[in-house]
Amino acid sequence: MTTSDAALSGTFAIGGDLVVNRLGFGAMRITGRGIWGEPEDPAAARATLRRVPELGINLIDTAESYGPEVSERLIGEELAPYAKGTIIATKSGLTRTGPDIWHQVGRPEFLEQGVHMSLRRLKLERLDLWQLHRIDRKVPRDEQFGAIAGFIRDGLVRHAGLSEVSIEEIEAARKYFPVATVQNLYNVANRRSEDVLAYCEANGIGFIPWFPLAGGDLVKSTRFQAICGKYGATSGQIALAWALQRSPVMLPIPGTGKIRHLEENTAAAAIRLEPADFEVLSRLGR
Ligand SMILES: NC(=O)c1ccc[n+]([C@@H]2O[C@H](COP(=O)([O-])OP(=O)(O)OC[C@H]3O[C@@H](n4cnc5c(N)ncnc54)[C@H](OP(=O)(O)O)[C@@H]3O)[C@@H](O)[C@H]2O)c1
Repeated sequence: MTTSDAALSGTFAIGGDLVVNRLGFGAMRITGRGIWGEPEDPAAARATLRRVPELGINLIDTAESYGPEVSERLIGEELAPYAKGTIIATKSGLTRTGPDIWHQVGRPEFLEQGVHMSLRRLKLERLDLWQLHRIDRKVPRDEQFGAIAGFIRDGLVRHAGLSEVSIEEIEAARKYFPVATVQNLYNVANRRSEDVLAYCEANGIGFIPWFPLAGGDLVKSTRFQAICGKYGATSGQIALAWALQRSPVMLPIPGTGKIRHLEENTAAAAIRLEPADFEVLSRLGR
């Protein structure tokens, strides 16, 4: 399978007006080990980024905490000024003290600094999609939601989203600002956010599944592998094809620092699972 065009995944309008091809790119893996520091192969990471728009991908997910700063900085250096219609979705609300170590920080002044620093590194005047990386349990959530409403009011952010949230939390946030996207862990094997996905679908909210390629032991099963064989596709491609077919609001953001993997992942946009195969995969993950 070599055809690589993210447009084949169909489109979704984030916040009702930002139209993106549904298969996006996650820019967390263009950093060092443990999402800390510079990538081991900077030339490969930069080349991967440059290939993203060539493949029709116009939704790129990042965060100030990836590196920290590294992912956003590389995106700004390699892709700005951006191809028309490119949406860079970034996040704030986590700070870092070492590889694989993440701390929640939801103080409004930290979030506001995050917005300004993201604008600077991404070389943008407004962030099309800014997401609260985590609701900080140590800070009243209303203060965090109020700050986000302020970023939108001040024109720093066009649309805002949340990450790792429940329906109750989305509804609480919607009292302050329109929630355009929700980014939760979700893949063919991990379906604990099915209720949130259904809520997003019913309310026109984009659902951005992170870790979309993962399948754990499920992808090793004979039935999963038989479907891979039938479509001449890798496990990751079938996992992505299933996710895209699962819901029209699904916006997967597979991440890689390698062009070869990027091209392989993007080719999943061309796979159309037959209904029976889609059902088998859906049942395997439950
Ligand atoms: N909101 C949150 O809390 C949160 C948390 C985690 C991630 N995210 C976002 O979600 C995006 C995706 O999540 P993720 O990176 O954890 O998971 P993922 O995209 O499902 O998997 C990425 C992993 O798979 C490897 N990979 C990618 N394509 C491959 C291929 N074709 N063949 C073999 N291996 C491949 C990557 O390594 P290589 O670099 O070697 O290809 C990397 O180790 C991230 O980039 C980030 O933007 C958000």
